[in-house]
Amino acid sequence: MKLALLGYGKMGAIIGTLAEAKGHEIVYKKGSSFEDGVFSEADVAIEFSIPEAAVTNISKCLEAGIPVVSGTTGWLSSYEEMIKKCEDCNGSFIYASNFSIGVNLFFNINAYAAKLMAPWKEYDISVEEIHHTQKKDAPSGTAITIAEEIIENTHKKEWKLDGGANDEISIIAKREGDVKGTHSVYYTSDIDTISIKHEAHTREGFAKGAILAAEWLVGKQGVYTMKDVLGIK
Ligand SMILES: NC(=O)c1ccc[n+]([C@@H]2O[C@H](COP(=O)([O-])OP(=O)(O)OC[C@H]3O[C@@H](n4cnc5c(N)ncnc54)[C@H](OP(=O)(O)O)[C@@H]3O)[C@@H](O)[C@H]2O)c1
Repeated sequence: MKLALLGYGKMGAIIGTLAEAKGHEIVYKKGSSFEDGVFSEADVAIEFSIPEAAVTNISKCLEAGIPVVSGTTGWLSSYEEMIKKCEDCNGSFIYASNFSIGVNLFFNINAYAAKLMAPWKEYDISVEEIHHTQKKDAPSGTAITIAEEIIENTHKKEWKLDGGANDEISIIAKREGDVKGTHSVYYTSDIDTISIKHEAHTREGFAKGAILAAEWLVGKQGVYTMKDVLGIK
């Protein structure tokens, strides 16, 4: 498979190394100030850049007829626009706030826990995310996905950074050292606390999941999620 990497920071570099180890070829790389290779040769693009660049990068791929996998977070207010663009271009597109297989399993555990806890309104619900100090957006895209799945399954109506009103899920975002990504959900009452947690030990999990999504996407048309890639509903 010939790959284009749009965004060549921490994630782009790991994806490049792991993809080459699997026998894929990197035909194009792009950062903020460099371009290397021939974009039009790519069978599929993987986009891990910055929130301000994601929409332009994804659009460029869709317009060129190159399937695109995007993991950049912090641009989701334009997600519907990208779905429309994908449809207009008869393209193929996957966005995931988190490509790690473990986190995608954790999303399902989170939804199940939320359904189980829904009748027990004495429990306050909060989400905590911890990431490295260079992370640009807060809260993390993964924390937002977690909160949205809780909202779908409980009486909570919205999430808020450092919130806490009755119908809100408070998301607490912490920035520490080189933490790869830790997400916890807490159900807290006066009597006890129930918590579930996912802790990424390396960035390889995100990279492996993004490569898997790219391999899966080639030859398909439409907008998909990691649930489609992994066959989990
Ligand atoms: N979905 C997931 O599983 C997952 C996992 C980890 C991270 N992420 C997200 O992925 C994104 C990247 O993370 P990272 O840790 O790799 O960040 P990073 O190390 O800061 O890398 C971002 C890269 O984007 C480049 N960039 C800036 N403007 C660009 C443009 N217009 N076109 C192409 N590239 C551009 C930067 O280039 P310069 O260095 O030249 O400025 C930098 O190399 C973040 O949004 C992060 O939250 C998602």
